Amino acid sequence: RGADDTGGPFLETAVYAPRELDEATGGAPGFANTPDSDPSLPANRDWAREIHERIADSTLGVSTIDAARVDDADTLESTIAGVREAAALWGARPATERAEVLLRAAAALEGRRGDLIEVAASETGKVFAEADVEVSEAVDFARYYAAKARELDAVAGAAFEPARVTVVTPPWNFPLAIPAGGVLAALAAGSGVVFKPAPQSRRCAAVIAETLWEVGVPRDVLALVDIEEGDLGRELISHESVDRVILTGSWETAALFRSWRPDLPLLAETSGKNAMIITPSADLDLAVADLVRSAFGHAGQKCSAASLAILVGPVGRSKRFARQLADATRSLHLGWPTDPLAEVGPVIERPEGKLAWSLTELDGDEKWLIEPALSDDDPTGRLWRPGIRVGVQPGSRFHTEEFFGPVLGVMHAPTLERAIELQNAVEYGLTAGLHTQDPAELALWLDRVQAGNLYVNRGITGAIVQRQPFGGWKRSSVGPGAKAGGPNYLIGLGSWRSSGSGT
Ligand code: ALA
Repeated sequence: RGADDTGGPFLETAVYAPRELDEATGGAPGFANTPDSDPSLPANRDWAREIHERIADSTLGVSTIDAARVDDADTLESTIAGVREAAALWGARPATERAEVLLRAAAALEGRRGDLIEVAASETGKVFAEADVEVSEAVDFARYYAAKARELDAVAGAAFEPARVTVVTPPWNFPLAIPAGGVLAALAAGSGVVFKPAPQSRRCAAVIAETLWEVGVPRDVLALVDIEEGDLGRELISHESVDRVILTGSWETAALFRSWRPDLPLLAETSGKNAMIITPSADLDLAVADLVRSAFGHAGQKCSAASLAILVGPVGRSKRFARQLADATRSLHLGWPTDPLAEVGPVIERPEGKLAWSLTELDGDEKWLIEPALSDDDPTGRLWRPGIRVGVQPGSRFHTEEFFGPVLGVMHAPTLERAIELQNAVEYGLTAGLHTQDPAELALWLDRVQAGNLYVNRGITGAIVQRQPFGGWKRSSVGPGAKAGGPNYLIGLGSWRSSGSGT
């Protein structure tokens, strides 16, 4: 499913059907997903221990990001002009050549798996396992978009004209996979890139850029620019030479970008308020495990996270279910990423505003099943034991707003129909989950649910490239609705000569 608010050409364009599928995987020829590493395996233990020991003093990426600092409009202007010029040659190369560079990038990203985990942990507080899956996803993006670039060339050929300058503005919460995905997609499509990192994950961006430059992406085709998000940010986004902006961030940021430049061709994946419905037919043990992982992985700081559980009928009255949910949550190991056992790490900054509210205050008759608690020995205010608020009411603040932290809200519904209404009664539509073992319930849900990414009897985070292309609906997407890691994404990064379409 996808959104479509600008009428991008590709959703109606039939030419872009894959010609061949790989017999073994059923997907893009030659593509298979990259496995995550398991630090508990004897073969990986020393490697993982060394990474953990390096995290506290890591300086990876520092010199590269310092060199990428842009403080004045003239430098920004010449950087954009340089990318535009270099991109003409890059885009004119046969897709097979660009694909070769992307395959080398995949190998290089895999080769720097330890460095990438180290820098994400050190700079943003991601715990090992959460950073590790991001590296796998970044490698997947490189290999998948390499396959898609070849296919695009074979199918669309000269009719497809890549954007010259794509600005990639990723978030800090997936500091490896999302920036790598945006940059690699643009490069695969034949576009030049101005890569503007989130301020909280600048060093991660630097290590990604270093890795791509090392395998042959020209420095003027991929320009890393570290700028303040003030006037220069506005100048970058609204610059007339910028053909595309790939944004992953809040809906408000997308609206701000559009206010700066109303005709901005934006591919944006924006906010979410995601719920998992659990019906009485579900395997409740599995549902608890999936819910807890979806709610509290990366301390709830995923746009895809389960912020709400909607319990249908007797599930909501079950003391056993409530006890299991509370026990599973309490059993999570809280710690800084230097702690090899840490499952839930810190939030990105000391909570303020709405995040602080969600961690400390209740609304109406809500109660804490588990009250969030700041870790005793944490002077930074960032390490919070996850909490669960029960009795969240329809239309209340916790039902409808995104909070982006380690708090889960629980709602009750008498029927599945009502649960779906509650799941849909938010402005966003990013991920949605259902736990059921009843095919009729599944059919009803599939017919009515309004979200871009639907998960059944599984957690609702961790979309896998090619298998689960990722993108939202409603206020979770701005732009033509192409999903990252899916077959249409590259087409959103160019236009069709034959159609005469300007988008
Ligand atoms: N792609 C990320 C996930 O699925 C956001 O969790």
